[in-house]
Amino acid sequence: MSTEIDIYDPSLYEAGMPWDRYARLRENDPVHRHAEPGGPGFWAVTRHADIQHVSRHPEVFSSHAGGIMVPDATEEQLSRNRLMMLFQDPPEHTVTRSVVNRGFTPRMIGKLEDHIREICHDLVGAALARGSVDFVADIAAPLPLYVICELLGAPPEDREKIFTWSNALIGADDPEFAAGDLTPIFELLSYASALGAQRRAEPRDDIVSKLVAPGEDGTSMDDLALGVFVMLLAVAGNETTRNAASGGLQAFFDHPEQWRRLLEDRSLLRTLPDEVVRWVSPVITMRRTALADTELGGQKIPAGEKVVMYYPSGNRDAAVFPDADVFDIGRDPNPHIGFGGGGPHFCLGAHLARMEVRVLFEVLAERAPDIAPAGPTRRLRSNFVNSLKEMPVRMGG
Ligand code: HEM
Repeated sequence: MSTEIDIYDPSLYEAGMPWDRYARLRENDPVHRHAEPGGPGFWAVTRHADIQHVSRHPEVFSSHAGGIMVPDATEEQLSRNRLMMLFQDPPEHTVTRSVVNRGFTPRMIGKLEDHIREICHDLVGAALARGSVDFVADIAAPLPLYVICELLGAPPEDREKIFTWSNALIGADDPEFAAGDLTPIFELLSYASALGAQRRAEPRDDIVSKLVAPGEDGTSMDDLALGVFVMLLAVAGNETTRNAASGGLQAFFDHPEQWRRLLEDRSLLRTLPDEVVRWVSPVITMRRTALADTELGGQKIPAGEKVVMYYPSGNRDAAVFPDADVFDIGRDPNPHIGFGGGGPHFCLGAHLARMEVRVLFEVLAERAPDIAPAGPTRRLRSNFVNSLKEMPVRMGG
C-alpha cells in the first residue's frame, strides 16, 4: 500500500509502456491498491502467478460485473457488454463457450492458413510496389480484419463496412463512441443476423454455419447471440492482432540481431509468435470483481472490489522468464499470459492469432528482408491496448 506509482494514466501509455513502474510494483507491492480518477479505485495485479490465480478462479473473481477497465466509461455503459461471453461467468459462460468452440476447432482454423498467406502476400506486395507505407494502416490493420471476414465467410466487398463498424466499436477512430453512439452496434448486429439466416438456409463448411446449426445437444446460436459473438470477434480479434503485428515489427527494429536470426533460420517461425505476444502484450489489462472476501499476494481483498490484471507486467516477471527483458524469438518454453492467464476466458482466437503473426513474418522475411523504419511512430493514448497508431516504414533497401 505504500508505494504511489501510477500505472493507470492513459497519457503515460501514449509516451511508451511504463516497464520500470511495473518492475517496481512487482518487486515492492505486487497487489497494489491503486487510485482511479472518478472511481472507487482497484487492485493492480502485476505478478505472473497472481494473474494466473485470478484468471483461474472465476468463482471468486467475476467477469460479469464489468470485465474491462475503460477510462471514463460508466458501469452502465460497460453493462451493455454483458451479453458477450467475455463478460459472462460459469455456468452461463461454459454454455456459450462450448457452442463457439465448435467453430474454432483446429480443423476450421487450419483451413484459413492458405487464405492468410494469400492476404499477407497481397498486402506486402502492394506495400512493396509503393515503397514507403504506414505499416499500421496498410498491413497490420487490414490483415486481422480480412481474416475475420474470411472466417465469417463475408464477401470481399463487405470488408470496408465491417472494418468501419469494428473501428467504431473499439473506438479506434472515434473518441466520441464511448459517449454512447450505438449505430455501429446495430449495423453489425443486423449484418450478422442476415449472415446467420443465410447459413441456416444454405450451410457451408464455415464457422458461422457450425454455430447456427444445432449441435449434438440440440443447442445452437440464435440471431442475437450470433450478432453479439460477431461483435466480440470484431473487437477482440482486430486491434489485438494489429498491435501484435506492429509491435512485433517494432521489436525487430529495436533488436536487428533477432531479424537477422529469423532471415537465417526460418524454423524460428514456430516460437516467434509467442515471443511477439509476450514482448508486446497487445492487451494491457482485463478486470475482475471479487465476489467474496479473499486474499491475493498477501493483500486482503474485500468482496465487491475491482482487481485489474496487468498482462505486460506478468510477461516480464523474472520469476517465470529467464532474461525476461530480452526479446528472444527462440524462447521455449514460453508460458506467457498475453492471451490471458488461463481459465475459462483464455483467448478463443489464440491459435488463429499465432497463425496470423507467423505467416505475416514469414512473408515479410521472404519478400521484404530490408524493411526499415522511415519516421517516428505514434502511439494510442490507451491503458487498455498497447497500440501503435502510425508506423512509417520503407519496404526495401
Ligand atoms: C479473449 C488476447 C486475438 C477472440 C482474450 C483475452 C485476452 C486476449 C487477454 C482475455 C482473457 C481473459 O480474460 O482471461 C488476445 C491477443 C490477441 C488476440 C493478445 C492477438 C495477438 C484474438 C483473435 C480472436 C480473439 C484473432 C478471434 C478472431 C477472443 C475472444 C475472447 C478473447 C472471443 C473471449 C473469450 C472468452 O471470454 O471466453 N483475448 N487475443 N482474440 N479473445 Fe483474444
